[in-house]
Amino acid sequence: MLLSQTLCLCLALAFTSAAPTLHDVMMADHDHDHHEDQAHHKANPDRCDGIEFDAIAPDEKGHTFFFKGDHLWNGFTGPAQVSSAFFKELDDHHHLGHVDAAFRMHNKEKPGDHDHIYFFLEDKVFSYYNHSLEKGYPKNIQLDFPGVPSHLDAAVECPKGECNSDSVLFFKGEEVYNYDIATQLVKKRQWAHLPNCTSAYRWLEQYYCFHGHNFTRFHPVSGEVNGVYPKDARHYFMSCPNFGHGGKAPKCSEVTLDAITSDDSGKTYAFTGQIYMRLDTHRDGKHTFPIARTWKELANGVDAVFSYSDKIYIIKGDQVYIYKSAAPFTLIEGYPKSLKEELGIEGPVNAAFVCAGHHIVHIIQGQKMQDIDLSATPRVVAREVPLPIAGIEAGMCGPDGVKVYVGSEYYHYESPRLLAFSKMSPEPKKITPDMMGCVE
Ligand SMILES: *[C@@H]1O[C@H](CO)[C@@H](O)[C@H](O)[C@H]1NC(C)=O
Ligand SMILES: *[C@@H]1O[C@H](CO)[C@@H](O)[C@H](O)[C@H]1NC(C)=O
Ligand SMILES: *[C@@H]1O[C@H](CO)[C@@H](O)[C@H](O)[C@H]1NC(C)=O
Repeated sequence: MLLSQTLCLCLALAFTSAAPTLHDVMMADHDHDHHEDQAHHKANPDRCDGIEFDAIAPDEKGHTFFFKGDHLWNGFTGPAQVSSAFFKELDDHHHLGHVDAAFRMHNKEKPGDHDHIYFFLEDKVFSYYNHSLEKGYPKNIQLDFPGVPSHLDAAVECPKGECNSDSVLFFKGEEVYNYDIATQLVKKRQWAHLPNCTSAYRWLEQYYCFHGHNFTRFHPVSGEVNGVYPKDARHYFMSCPNFGHGGKAPKCSEVTLDAITSDDSGKTYAFTGQIYMRLDTHRDGKHTFPIARTWKELANGVDAVFSYSDKIYIIKGDQVYIYKSAAPFTLIEGYPKSLKEELGIEGPVNAAFVCAGHHIVHIIQGQKMQDIDLSATPRVVAREVPLPIAGIEAGMCGPDGVKVYVGSEYYHYESPRLLAFSKMSPEPKKITPDMMGCVE
């Protein structure tokens, strides 16, 4: 009961890189005090009151903007601000009303359009990049998007791979217009089971239709809705004190990792306590999730994680869990197995990493590192070396070498060999907001 509530609160809890969090999700479980809304600003709308957004879209930096009237919110936390402070020219056209719809262009074929943020107001479209209005805008919608109607309700990007080709989905009343960016062909659909969307948002490869203060997740090709919807947006896409959140982003000096790994496709995951964070999603901001959302067997946290040959190995206590490294992660049959059986060692393990293209897993236990050849059977410790650094809790090998984490600092070595044999430790470096979305 408690667990399902926790999962529900946390499922899509997220913060932009402007105000991110390793801590909030943890707080979400505990923070059930219903303190009253104190500051009711008359002029500024409060999204915690439960409002219907006009439009939602991220910019090229992964900051998500939520629009309502002539105000917007920048990110998942913080107060409403005047839209024209961010997008100046939106205010210059007083005969046009508020933003009806917005999306961020995904068009790798045309770098000049890629990542531009488009706004639709009545029959006009505005294109911004780096928060400057592009030359020639605003213009009539149909000049850029032939076949797409004016007075839209919502719009959302849909890159190839998620849609059949790089596309935009436009919503107006009960109609959905699937606009193919390259061919400019429009397919009109009706997804009668989906509520009329007043804004639409793609976030971490998922699609959300917002209606009232609720949202419904849908499949961008079939329109299918799976799961229990609608859900109240205040539990997920914003930080509202009486909706279970309200914690602050942690200080970088308080961040400690249990494990960190990057797979072959560059997806990078950092683990701490019962949550993890994707570190490679700057286009959508950095976000935290309960570990159980992705690796359900590991709700209580992990000790060490490494990636090897399309699989992710998670070590907890004296057990090893191996998952196929594609979402949804599936536990390979027969696992977990004991560390002894899988790697020929006893737990617990503090950190583990494999360098791309290599078969050696480097296992750190206390102040020693053991190398195990994953291509050999049976697996045995081929080499054991004492380390110059104590207290390593997480480690990762990437294109620029090895980073090992001790508390909120890390040490950078060019290779596992240098980690093992350097006589001198390099100066530790501090985890920065850029790396983990914490605050100074
Ligand atoms: C973005 O805009 C800022 C301020 O207007 C400017 O200083 C900067 O050079 C611009 N960056 C790019 C990539 O155009
Ligand atoms: C959806 O939009 C259509 C067209 O504007 C309208 O007739 C219908 O009443 C709307 N449905 C709801 C549930 O608001
Ligand atoms: C929001 O969704 C809840 C169900 O989760 C429903 O009871 C409520 O009527 C919806 N409210 C609006 C404004 O759509």
